[in-house]
Amino acid sequence: MTRSTAPSAALPPDTGLKTRVLTVANGSAGSGKSTFAAAVAYAAAMRGKKVCVIGLDKQRDMSHVLGYDDPDSNPALPTLYDVLDELCTLAEAVVPALNSKTGDPIPNLWIVPESEKLDKLEFMLAGTTARELWLYKIIGQLRGRFDAVLLDCPGDVKLATIGALIAGDEIVGCVKSQEKEARGLTQLEDKLYEVHQAYAHTGMRDKVDWVVIGDGVSNKKQGKVYWDVEQQIRKAYGDSVLKFTVRDDVKVPEAYTAGQPVTLYAPKSAAAEAYTKNGRQMKLYR
Ligand SMILES: Nc1ncnc2c1ncn2[C@@H]1O[C@H](COP(=O)(O)OP(=O)(O)OP(=O)(O)O)[C@@H](O)[C@H]1O
Ligand SMILES: [Mg+2]
Repeated sequence: MTRSTAPSAALPPDTGLKTRVLTVANGSAGSGKSTFAAAVAYAAAMRGKKVCVIGLDKQRDMSHVLGYDDPDSNPALPTLYDVLDELCTLAEAVVPALNSKTGDPIPNLWIVPESEKLDKLEFMLAGTTARELWLYKIIGQLRGRFDAVLLDCPGDVKLATIGALIAGDEIVGCVKSQEKEARGLTQLEDKLYEVHQAYAHTGMRDKVDWVVIGDGVSNKKQGKVYWDVEQQIRKAYGDSVLKFTVRDDVKVPEAYTAGQPVTLYAPKSAAAEAYTKNGRQMKLYR
């Protein structure tokens, strides 16, 4: 049975845009993935680019900052879980992102809301042939409609993330300048290598294309351990590492509390400016 939801009318038409699907991931939780994805998605939308964010996490952080605090509480709202449950298509699950403060749609920005039930993703797909391709098989529904689609992965490299790694055109590894998140980046690379062995025929990436250092420090005095780890990451990943480290900035947790991307909540803050520069370096906008 198809779910009768109106929001699919919100989906922008296929105008032949060359869509970049960006998979935002790290093997470790709390590495700045959702903060980055929301900040850059909003910055791109504000510059006239059509952007869709797909949240893959049962924590629903992306939904929270793009206007849907608890998608499960609204039965009329489609979620990614409904797509897996075949109640609607991926295209039908796209809804306008909202400014949590005003309730108004954010121009050029869309989201596929998350569900708490995404914690059952592995179980749901268990009996499916080539289940790792779950997102690859449907992501085409969004191509041509958006300049960029960002996949906000959970903080592990299990089936949700694996699906996003295969479906993505570019892999973005978000990391903090701390050992835990740096190890998470290594886990991500190892998983990419492993999955690529089996699914190279899909054209999937076999390496991390961009590394974002968030919640870092600006100089050695702020913390030698942080500085050392940052330098190690820059050495290991070379030109893939985005030039602008996002400093520790209280506006980031404040923006989360306000339910907004930091680039909307505090566009002049150091974090928002760094994320905006990150997106520019990635050529998501000028
Ligand atoms: N530049 C920053 N300054 C201050 N706090 C930050 C910064 N970047 C991220 N944080 C904080 O770090 C925490 C983790 O960030 P975020 O939720 O973006 O990570 P995540 O990788 O999406 O986590 P998860 O794996 O749980 O989904 C949040 O509390 C966020 O507010
Ligand atoms: Mg997150």
